[in-house]
Amino acid sequence: MKLNTVYLAENLEFLRKLNSEFIDLIYIDPPFYTGVDYKEFDDKWNSLEDYLHFMELRVKEMHRLLKSSGSFYCHSDANAVFDLKLLCDNIFHKKYFRREIIWNVGSVSGFKSQVKGWVRQHDTILYYTKSDIYTFNKQYIPYKKDYIKKMFRYKDEDGRIYRKRRGGKQYLDEKPGNAVGDVWNDIYSYQTRTRSKEYLGYPTQKPEKLLERIILSSSNEGELIADFFCGTGTTLAVANKLKRKWIGVDNNQKAIDLCKERLRLD
Ligand SMILES: C[S@@+](CC[C@H](N)C(=O)[O-])C[C@H]1O[C@@H](n2cnc3c(N)ncnc32)[C@H](O)[C@@H]1O
Repeated sequence: MKLNTVYLAENLEFLRKLNSEFIDLIYIDPPFYTGVDYKEFDDKWNSLEDYLHFMELRVKEMHRLLKSSGSFYCHSDANAVFDLKLLCDNIFHKKYFRREIIWNVGSVSGFKSQVKGWVRQHDTILYYTKSDIYTFNKQYIPYKKDYIKKMFRYKDEDGRIYRKRRGGKQYLDEKPGNAVGDVWNDIYSYQTRTRSKEYLGYPTQKPEKLLERIILSSSNEGELIADFFCGTGTTLAVANKLKRKWIGVDNNQKAIDLCKERLRLD
């Protein structure tokens, strides 16, 4: 298996051929059990049990492939996330479940707003690590210029800007904004739609900003990122941009063609 490559393959067969414990970060955006045929891939199942069995076989393999310091993000939504959570708890162990990330997908189309009941507005990303020793680089939403001007009013002899906090100094370069929590309201899914250059016309494509946050927080430069349901290669493109190594798999020819074009591979 070569790194920085995308593979057209059924992922379970592919996963089973790989050695253990060599990947630093796995992000997956699998079918969500929506009951929808997206044309490029079918998310219709005979039963929830069938779907969970499909996921269990694959998540077990991914757990095996992660280094002991590795991290795992499983993107899902209300259709099956509660069932997936129990499944992943069993595979990773409940104590290594780190966070349930709520991603506010933002866009509410006219059609959705006519649906009776609360408008569905978020996806859920389950975040696990394989052990207690893992990478986590805190991410920040930068302070607005006005806020910095108002609050960080002091400067050291060496030019470092700070504010007075609890009798001490809080430097702007040490805390450049508000630490990102587990509810993500600042990344809109419509950025990937028609208005965005990123959008490649593939159903359920995710925005690069979402992957940027995950990759920056849970890996370092030079490490290996994998996405075994890679679609258009959003994870891979971001990993590449952030100087990580990567590997992607999808069983859809159109997805692989888009990945190759996006990553300028031949
Ligand atoms: C939700 S899409 C991923 C979209 C991707 N995150 C992006 O930003 O473009 C899920 C992908 O999983 C792929 N897929 C589904 N079952 C698969 C399997 N058994 N093996 C490999 N790929 C699979 C589908 O073809 C589809 O491209």
